[in-house]
Amino acid sequence: MPNLVGDVSSAARILPDLKGEKLFIRNGKGAYLWDDKGRRYIDTALGFGAVLLGHSNDAVNAAVSQALSDSAAPSWAHVREHGAATDLAKHTGELSKVIFTNSGSEAVHLACRAARAYTGRGKIAKMAAGFDGWFDDVSYGNVTSKEATFQDGQRPSTERTTLLRFNDFDDVERLFAEDNDIAAVVLEPMLANAGCIMALPGYLKHVQAIAHQHGALVICDEVLMGFRLYPGLAGLREGLNPDIASVGKAIGNGVPVSAVVAKPHILAGFEEGRVIRGGTFSGNPMACAAVTSTLSQLDNSDYEHLISRGNTLREAIEAIFKAHDLIVTTSGYGNVFGIWLGAVAPMTYEQAEKIANPAFTQALHLALREAGVLIMPSPYGRLYISFEHNNRVIEEIKTAFEQAADALSGTFANA
Ligand SMILES: Cc1ncc(COP(=O)(O)O)c(C=O)c1O
Repeated sequence: MPNLVGDVSSAARILPDLKGEKLFIRNGKGAYLWDDKGRRYIDTALGFGAVLLGHSNDAVNAAVSQALSDSAAPSWAHVREHGAATDLAKHTGELSKVIFTNSGSEAVHLACRAARAYTGRGKIAKMAAGFDGWFDDVSYGNVTSKEATFQDGQRPSTERTTLLRFNDFDDVERLFAEDNDIAAVVLEPMLANAGCIMALPGYLKHVQAIAHQHGALVICDEVLMGFRLYPGLAGLREGLNPDIASVGKAIGNGVPVSAVVAKPHILAGFEEGRVIRGGTFSGNPMACAAVTSTLSQLDNSDYEHLISRGNTLREAIEAIFKAHDLIVTTSGYGNVFGIWLGAVAPMTYEQAEKIANPAFTQALHLALREAGVLIMPSPYGRLYISFEHNNRVIEEIKTAFEQAADALSGTFANA
């Protein structure tokens, strides 16, 4: 009897069997992964967005190996931690103070603690259907949960978390009129884990203005979008002025590392010992080495070309399905996007729920897997493109989509 619960440690990794077979990955390089049978796949899940430089990056591997052989757990302040913090802070504007953690969930958790401690208030407001990690407080109202959809006059809340509707300008005003105990609003530049729902023009700034007007802080959850569109925080590019941000994933190219970055006065409580931070592995040498190596490579990477390669792929996917009499649309950015069966990408979670078609996405996952491309099997999943996804890889993906569209067109039709 297998000992591993449900075959995987994170539910995000659950995949359907293909012809009675499970998928077990053995290794990866660049845009590719190989399974235990030696079959090669193009990967578009990319460590759920962590692997922006491509799998098994030589320079990151060398830096991490050196850190590992120097000492994995030196206990005390070590020679790589300050350097990594300095490297990170060069990219985060006024959010110049850094605390390293290990996962995105931890970073969000610590960011929320920082906001509660600074404001003396109890609640965190998060976007209904947004994913800000799997810790108790912020996993409330996650995508597909019953709380994620609510009508005017309702306000799903717990003692420590309250929800607001993404892209609803009035809802944020109502929320702050109703509740004066909100320490911070957690904002994502797009609702990525609900299938890449883009923010309406002016929405993010509107939320920020209302939050600040009521003495609440703004936490940009940049675990997924940070360093994806350029080497920095997506929220800053949107013209936001957040107080705190959480980063993770892409800053270590797949090595477990995350961080809270914030304006100095917000984190002063940690420096003065009034607020707790901890973690045996927080700021460990391998994580710090990965950050330094990854950020120096991202600084010299051509994001514009990466995103335009991805946009070409998005257009090709839509055209391929159209040629097979199926209308699909994509939402997001060239290097992180969702696919919807339908002509119009959702602008709210309510719309997303209506057009989400789990059977279609699962069938697409299986058909592409058979054709040698791995995508997430959920309608709210995303396709990522790394710097190793060159034109040749994009062409290979297109060929796989041709095969998949051919297989699916007999079974699925537009509503
Ligand atoms: C926006 C966002 N925040 C937080 C997290 C949690 O990060 P982790 O899975 O590293 O705990 C994720 C993970 O997908 C995320 O996308």
